[in-house]
Formats: sequence, structure tokens, C-alpha cells
Amino acid sequence: MKTTTLHKRDRLDQLDRHTDPRLAEIVAGLQATPKRLSPKYFYDAVGSKLFDRICHLPEYYPTRTEVDILSRQRQAIAKVLGTGMELIEFGSGSSIKIRLLLQTLRPENYLPVDISAQHLHESARKLKADYPWLKLTPICLDYSQPFSLPVSRQQRIGFFPGSSIGNFEPADAEQFLRQVATLLGSGNGLLIGVDTPKDETILNAAYNDGDGVTAAFNLNILQHINALTGSKFDTARFAHQAFYNADAGRIEMHLRSVTEQRVAIAGEWIHLAAGETIHTENSYKYSRSAFLALAERAGYEPVQTWADDRDWFNVHYLRVR
Ligand code: AVJ
Repeated sequence: MKTTTLHKRDRLDQLDRHTDPRLAEIVAGLQATPKRLSPKYFYDAVGSKLFDRICHLPEYYPTRTEVDILSRQRQAIAKVLGTGMELIEFGSGSSIKIRLLLQTLRPENYLPVDISAQHLHESARKLKADYPWLKLTPICLDYSQPFSLPVSRQQRIGFFPGSSIGNFEPADAEQFLRQVATLLGSGNGLLIGVDTPKDETILNAAYNDGDGVTAAFNLNILQHINALTGSKFDTARFAHQAFYNADAGRIEMHLRSVTEQRVAIAGEWIHLAAGETIHTENSYKYSRSAFLALAERAGYEPVQTWADDRDWFNVHYLRVR
């Protein structure tokens, strides 16, 4: 029984300082002004677990709102998507949401794609136990880079829940969607979850929870960078910061250096002034019309949008033109 396909070159265990371009990318981001780290580095084993906890927080409305939409609409969704397809999920994480659709969609093959190898395999094992009939092809890769996937069937459906599309800059989101369109092929479709703009108090609370789980998630990126590169970031010297930037239509997350400090990484010093920040994440929010316009530019035709009563979250089904 084949349960896993691991591309060794895609594993993010420890970066080879001589050959791995990701090390140069990390160092360049930390030497830039303002300093930045890619949000993909949130997701080591610890970060993936912290993210799962975020999804259960009372303040973090996106997960439960999307789960609610998917479970209420599963029949309608299956009607539009069909059954027996090859189902490719980007950023599958714990593969919780797909469970809501498996029974009605009955895919021929499910390809969960995730950057965290450990999390991917644990989730695949659990899924296999709960759905013995399901053919699974887990794939560990970073979908923010150009990729290819071992697709075989004619009928392919992409699934990209959670509003992870919001992590891309809008131009990069368009580029990513275009890449997915090519992979899926004309006439096939993408089911995608998108968080919408709303009252700033609600947005800010979702990224500043009372239990400090989002803060721990944000700070953990430094532990992951330490593990990957041998750097010595001390998380006690940084503070979590998250706020809605209304002009840009996005939540921003940063780590603020609480003191002046310098940190060694790959034989270089990173200097941080007291109060200086490292930008770790953008989470863009798109209204229905703004997102559908973006999707159209990326080569899709909007088929249907499902939402909750307050329109806090949208699930769009798009067909590749
Ligand atoms: C997984 C990117 C959709 O932006 O809401 C949650 C990540 N960051 N809390 C989001 C996240 C802080 C999440 N996405």
C-alpha cells in the first residue's frame, strides 16, 4: 500500500549552508530594510501544531466559519464539483477540512501538499485509518515556489482552504492561481476559501488572542530559523505584534525586538535596534468582487460562491477557462 511520496530535496530539516538557496534568502530578508522572514517558516512541527491550536481559538473566526460553510453546503458543493476526481489540496496541514467533503466527493485520489513533512505524514496516517478506501498521495513541497505534481486523472479539482491565498502579495497570488490553473487544466476547477474585510476589532482580535497562542506561533518562527540555520535568536527578546493595515487590506504580523541586539546567522551579524521589527506575515482579505476579479485575471471563470450569513468568509468555486 502506497501512502507517501516524499521528495527528499524538498525537506526542510537543516539547510546546507553551501548549497541551499533558502539560507541566502533567509539572511537577505534579515538584512533588508525593513527586515522580513517568509511565513512559510512558521510551519515546522511545533508551528503546525500551534496553528492547529489557533484554528480552535474563539477569536480566530476564519476556521470555524469556513468549516461551517463547507459542512452546510457539502451537497451543493458536490453537485458542482462532481465525484471521482483527483483532489489536490494545497497546504493540507492536518487535513481536517477535507474530511467534510470526502464522503460526498469520493475522490479517486487525494494529494495533500504541505511544507511540513512530519505533519503531512501524521495527518496522512490518521486519514488512512479513518478512510480506508481513500487513495492517498502525500507530497511534501513548498508551493510558494514553482512546482510540478504527479497528476494522472483527467478530472482534477484543487482545494485551497483557510484563506492561505492571503499570504501572497496580490500579484503573487495571481501568479500562483495561474500556475494552479495550468496544473488543473481547462474545464477543471478550484475550490478556494477566502477571508473577507470586516470590522477591524474583529480582525485585530483574531490575530491577538487572549491565550497568546498567535504570539507563540509568531515567535516560533525564530526557533525554526535557529534549527534550520544554527542562528541564536532568543525569543524572550522579541514581542508579537499584529494589526490590520486598512490601506493595504491586510493583517500584518511582526516580531519587535525589545532591546538593541545582534544575532549571528551563517557567519554574519544581524543588528536590531530597540523597537525594530521583523515582518513575518501578511494576510490579505478580499471582498467577493475583489477576489473574483483577481481570479478572472488569473484565468478562471467564477462558478459559485458560498458564504456565511455575515459574509465573514467566502468559499469560491472557480473553473479554469
Ligand atoms: C494560514 C495564512 C490563513 O493568515 O490567518 C493565523 C495564518 N497567522 N494566525 C492567516 C495565521 C496568524 C493564517 N493563514
